[in-house]
Amino acid sequence: MEWYAHCLGWLADHRATRGCTVVALGGGVIGDLAGFVAATYMRGVKLLGIPTTLLAQVDSSVGGKVGLDLPQGKNLVGAFHPAAEVRIAVDVLATLPERQWRNGMAEVWKYGFIGNASLVDTLFRAPSIPPADEWRPLVEVCVAQKAHVVEHDEFETTGLRATLNYGHTIGHAIEKLLGYEELLHGEAIAIGMVLEAVLGERLGVTAPGTSALVRRAMDHAGLPIWHPILNDCNRLVDAMRLDKKASADGLAFSLLTEVGHCKLVRGVGTDEVRAILGDH
Ligand SMILES: NC(=O)c1ccc[n+]([C@@H]2O[C@H](COP(=O)([O-])OP(=O)(O)OC[C@H]3O[C@@H](n4cnc5c(N)ncnc54)[C@H](O)[C@@H]3O)[C@@H](O)[C@H]2O)c1
Ligand SMILES: [Zn+2]
Repeated sequence: MEWYAHCLGWLADHRATRGCTVVALGGGVIGDLAGFVAATYMRGVKLLGIPTTLLAQVDSSVGGKVGLDLPQGKNLVGAFHPAAEVRIAVDVLATLPERQWRNGMAEVWKYGFIGNASLVDTLFRAPSIPPADEWRPLVEVCVAQKAHVVEHDEFETTGLRATLNYGHTIGHAIEKLLGYEELLHGEAIAIGMVLEAVLGERLGVTAPGTSALVRRAMDHAGLPIWHPILNDCNRLVDAMRLDKKASADGLAFSLLTEVGHCKLVRGVGTDEVRAILGDH
């Protein structure tokens, strides 16, 4: 919030007009911040995205969601403000630290789980951090999948776009309880994807055996599948009530039906969620 105010002040100090373009050059944090500045400065100016992390290239730079976190919850302030243009150069990923690579790979695996079973097969056969000649096709396949979903449900009204949130209902709650420190976004959603597969199996939505596969995948990817914060069931469930997909009749989850397919399931009782958190 401080940097948001700082950036707006900077633009005003430099007499930026409505015709200016804000360039978001950096990872997802910069994309969200610069994007929200672009969405709100003078009621909106042009945004150019130049994402430099794997996570930002495959996910956050596409789809027009920009925003900020509050201490009360993740992404609670924001706007839909699609970039006029997004330029992606995979070469910049050469300097990305290993942990950030794995962080981004969590979202890549997510695309496979929710909508592309052959991507899951490919990822299992590849090293956990793919060689440079595979970066471009990998980023392309993810961007195409996200763009397809966003084109069909830009403002998240039909439930389709919300399916991109697989692993995120639990993942966001974990991030919040840890104060957005200790675990990276992709690490928290890795844990979330495993647990939401367990939840789906418990609810009879997800094919049996799927959660074991997701767990193996996260092991292969070098991502976490558990954290001591999971013992804090009540506070986690409380945090999930603030999830944007939740409604008066319960929590909502993007659940796999099987690898490569998913659907949004509403009205999930908090007891069901507590039960799977307590089990692990
Ligand atoms: N708006 C959306 O649709 C959306 C979607 C997913 C995630 N997000 C948000 O994105 C954020 C995470 O983004 P992130 O994972 O990119 O993290 P990040 O922006 O914090 O970047 C990670 C680190 O990598 C460094 N870095 C960036 N590019 C680099 C490069 N090419 N080489 C070396 N270092 C580099 C950054 O300085 C930073 O230290 C979270 O806040 C998440 O909520 C937003
Ligand atoms: Zn995410």
